[in-house]
Amino acid sequence: MEPVTAAPAPIDYVSRWRRLVEARHEQGRRLDRFHDRPDQWADGRAARFRRMVTASAAADPLLDLLRPLLRRDLTVLDVGAGTGRHVIPLAPMVSRITAIEPSPAMRAELEAAVKDARATNVEIVASSWPNVDVEPADLVICSHVAYVVADIEPFLRRLDAANRGRCVVVLRYLQRETAILDLFERIWNEPRCPEPTFPDLFGAACQLGIWANVVNIPFTVAQSFDSLDEAVQMVKRDLLNPEGPAVDRVIRDFLAERLVRQEGRWQLRTPPAVAGVLWWERRS
Ligand SMILES: C[S@@+](CC[C@H](N)C(=O)[O-])C[C@H]1O[C@@H](n2cnc3c(N)ncnc32)[C@H](O)[C@@H]1O
Repeated sequence: MEPVTAAPAPIDYVSRWRRLVEARHEQGRRLDRFHDRPDQWADGRAARFRRMVTASAAADPLLDLLRPLLRRDLTVLDVGAGTGRHVIPLAPMVSRITAIEPSPAMRAELEAAVKDARATNVEIVASSWPNVDVEPADLVICSHVAYVVADIEPFLRRLDAANRGRCVVVLRYLQRETAILDLFERIWNEPRCPEPTFPDLFGAACQLGIWANVVNIPFTVAQSFDSLDEAVQMVKRDLLNPEGPAVDRVIRDFLAERLVRQEGRWQLRTPPAVAGVLWWERRS
């Protein structure tokens, strides 16, 4: 007789998402003495992020994807706008952009970028999605934000409700720390808890009845450093700030092997990466 195999339980993607985010937070709280700093982007991190996205701005694959949709009368909502990677190039091509950004450090960089670009049609809103009262827009963008959001259901539902044309949500397929996961485990004797990635987003959206389209784009942002010392300091932060001279030596040796010189700066060799773009038209 054939053995009877039980069908696997359906995956609850929304709960799975929460468990991923909470486990990662718990690991951060346990290992990283700076975990509870009020603004994760303070201490120069937002400025570094702005330099990094500005360096790759000329060839932004998400903008290439959006270009055919752009019109002078288009309204845009950028949720988690960061330092303005999309706000700044989009501003001259559309009617109005609302940029939601909760981090004071990111907002300061965004304000400076808007001023430098002399953009007069950008409104910056100091709030966290989904707890913000804004008008729906013709194009809603949410790029590389949801990794840290524990409650994905209200987050996606509110994006959907704010969408009166097209909604575009972008996440990586791979972990942010892919290049240093083995080093993390060597230092802490435990693996880094993963953050949710694109397949989790697709599953959660389907579970909520948002049957969206998927396009893949290259994930082009790469960290680069002026010197080995700077690389050690930055990578240490991604390793949750382990302490001690022995740790510094391990990080330094690891980086000395993996850093490559490119255009006058040091870059960490990472596998070629891809981001998924989940997009859907207005549904009601
Ligand atoms: C990795 S950055 C990406 C910035 C920008 N979208 C880009 O692609 O360059 C993530 C941004 O999302 C913001 N963020 C995090 N949680 C958020 C939330 N619940 N609502 C809105 N923004 C959020 C962070 O402050 C940060 O600026």
